[in-house]
Amino acid sequence: MASVLLLGATSDMAVAIARKFAADKYDIILAGRDMESLQTLQADITIRYNVKAVAVKFDVLDYSQHKNFYQQLPFKPDISICIVGYLGDQQKATTDWNEADKTIATNYSGPVSIINVIAEDYASRKSGVIVGISSVAGERGRQSNYFYGSAKAAFTAYLSGLRNSLHKDGVHVVTVLPGFVYTKMTADLKLPAILTATTNEVAIAVKKAIAAKKNVIYVKWFWRWIMLIIKLIPESMFKKMKL
Ligand SMILES: NC(=O)c1ccc[n+]([C@@H]2O[C@H](COP(=O)([O-])OP(=O)(O)OC[C@H]3O[C@@H](n4cnc5c(N)ncnc54)[C@H](OP(=O)(O)O)[C@@H]3O)[C@@H](O)[C@H]2O)c1
Repeated sequence: MASVLLLGATSDMAVAIARKFAADKYDIILAGRDMESLQTLQADITIRYNVKAVAVKFDVLDYSQHKNFYQQLPFKPDISICIVGYLGDQQKATTDWNEADKTIATNYSGPVSIINVIAEDYASRKSGVIVGISSVAGERGRQSNYFYGSAKAAFTAYLSGLRNSLHKDGVHVVTVLPGFVYTKMTADLKLPAILTATTNEVAIAVKKAIAAKKNVIYVKWFWRWIMLIIKLIPESMFKKMKL
């Protein structure tokens, strides 16, 4: 029976992805900081889908524990999905290093630390799929979120290099660029409905991307073209825009 590890399993996106895989009889490992929420979700998934589900404590910033965390999992996942992220307070981060550092570490250094451990295992087993939820915010830095965006840019580049490195071992790496999604993270933002995906759409896109061995996906197809246009704007004009 196949299994999936969800890092950042309390996120709305992760819950939708977990349900999608459980519905297809995958066993599920829910990893995150909030054990109470994870145990509630674990019980719900076990009863609803009749699969094995476990909840495991995981902090992406606790680098020294990442090897232990992975070694002690009750079973090794065939698919590992890193959903962890932190939007951060852009304004605060410009003057408060702790906020900037937390944004960078939660979106980049932490995910890299745990994915390195998983990648080592998958490379030796010559199988496995690693999925990283990155962001279109990483495709061009903007004044409204360049701490988050630059960390996601680095994460996207890391996933690209990892995909290249693990190809010879038969390990596949998928980069997911969701565009806007209705979740806790964006609850305070006014998102244009036409451009915004639901968590269920993200879950469907992730599952399809794994099955079709896609490399980089945009959850809603038009984000690829929106970002292409944004990237084509000359820097001399871009720097004057309020984005
Ligand atoms: N929503 C969007 O429009 C959008 C767009 C593009 C990309 N994304 C990305 O999609 C992913 C999921 O985001 P979301 O929208 O579902 O937001 P979310 O609900 O805020 O999810 C963030 C997840 O990261 C976890 N997390 C944060 N710091 C952590 C830490 N130190 N250790 C372990 N887990 C930690 C959170 O756990 P806690 O519950 O413990 O805080 C939560 O599970 C993120 O990577 C985000 O950057 C979101």
